[in-house]
Amino acid sequence: MPNAISGFSKLSKSKKIEWLLETYFDNKDTARDLVKQYWNSNEKLQKLHDEFIENTITNYYLPLGVAPNFSINSELYTIPMAIEESSVVAAASKAAKFWLDRGGFKAEVISTEKIGQVHFMYNGNFEKLKSFFESVKSKLIASTSEITKNMERRGGGILNIELKNKSKDLDNYYQLHATFETLDAMGANFINSCLEQFAKTFKIEAETHLKDDLEIVMSILSNYVPNCLVRAEVSCEISELKSKDISNPELFAQKFKQAISIAETEPYRAVTHNKGIMNGIDAVVLATGNDFRAVEAGVHAYAARDGKYSSLTHCSIDDEVFKFWIEIPLALGTVGGLTSLHPLVKFSLEMLKRPTAKDLMQIVAVAGLAQNFGAVKSLTTTGIQEGHMKMHLMNILNQFEATQDEKTKLVEHFKTNVVTHSAVVEAIENLRN
Ligand code: MEV
Repeated sequence: MPNAISGFSKLSKSKKIEWLLETYFDNKDTARDLVKQYWNSNEKLQKLHDEFIENTITNYYLPLGVAPNFSINSELYTIPMAIEESSVVAAASKAAKFWLDRGGFKAEVISTEKIGQVHFMYNGNFEKLKSFFESVKSKLIASTSEITKNMERRGGGILNIELKNKSKDLDNYYQLHATFETLDAMGANFINSCLEQFAKTFKIEAETHLKDDLEIVMSILSNYVPNCLVRAEVSCEISELKSKDISNPELFAQKFKQAISIAETEPYRAVTHNKGIMNGIDAVVLATGNDFRAVEAGVHAYAARDGKYSSLTHCSIDDEVFKFWIEIPLALGTVGGLTSLHPLVKFSLEMLKRPTAKDLMQIVAVAGLAQNFGAVKSLTTTGIQEGHMKMHLMNILNQFEATQDEKTKLVEHFKTNVVTHSAVVEAIENLRN
């Protein structure tokens, strides 16, 4: 086992790399060359990336693709997607084009409330705590005035603070449960700063006015935002579903709806179904510099809000009209954080016509819905492997270091042959022999 190292973060970047090479790599020159190959030759840009996190040694690339032809509330968008999975951008583009000809996507923001909590322990009478809270509530809000003044000037800020008695769930456990409007900011720093100030003021006031033992455990925003909701939908007459891949629209609509019903009732399917939705959502969230872990955590909690994990999308067929929609919580920002720092995030946001946070919520929800439409359409018709393996073909060819000439020939060959890993290996071997 290698020795532990202390003071690693204080070493220079090259010293860190040398330590890694010494400790873990057999072929140090190859590993060093690789790490350096991914450095950006623009030193300013590299330094920017180095400083995003601690101990940066190089850059980790993901492709940034674009899916054009998204009509959202009658505006046309090209959606940026940062993702490694071969078929995701292709599926999004295909779904965008499909719905472009059928009225496009409609989206609306239902609510924009964010949540944060001060968790504390209190070992006394609840009625006494309640009247103490009522007496200090305005002081709690006033104590954050320095933090909130800019947000308030723009129309946002603290919406409310409630005292919650959680002592039935956990002995002596209570919360200050606060709600916020953070406008175009995701708001994590704003919310956490407010909460930490609430906690300080609450503790000080409790020491002089409440006397009983009150211990602050922690103050932190919640990534579960069921009141920061967006809805996106597509709909058309069943007969309009007829297309190159859909010869029998009635049968298609029926099977599609059955597939959604299965995801609504069956958690094993729902997880994969929602994973496909997150293929679209995460890719746009990442491209626009938002926190995809926060979004993931919040969305999956929402999918289980009724006590059983279920589908995020729904489908109805009424009076010959096919309707397909998604409703999800999304706490996103288009100002602050990476949005003003990462050059490709700025590029992506400009491509999206400099959206407000509400616009971005709608765009992201649409990307999720489109992705799910593409996946369920394939699953209920051809199966996904045909399209997936066609897209994956290039990865296999790259694994075998195919030349450009070999790639051209093999892509042509697999236009009319089924792509499987072994079929591609065999075709490469045949070509090379
Ligand atoms: C693969 O990344 C996503 C799918 O499995 C989603 C689904 O099954 O709906 C195709």
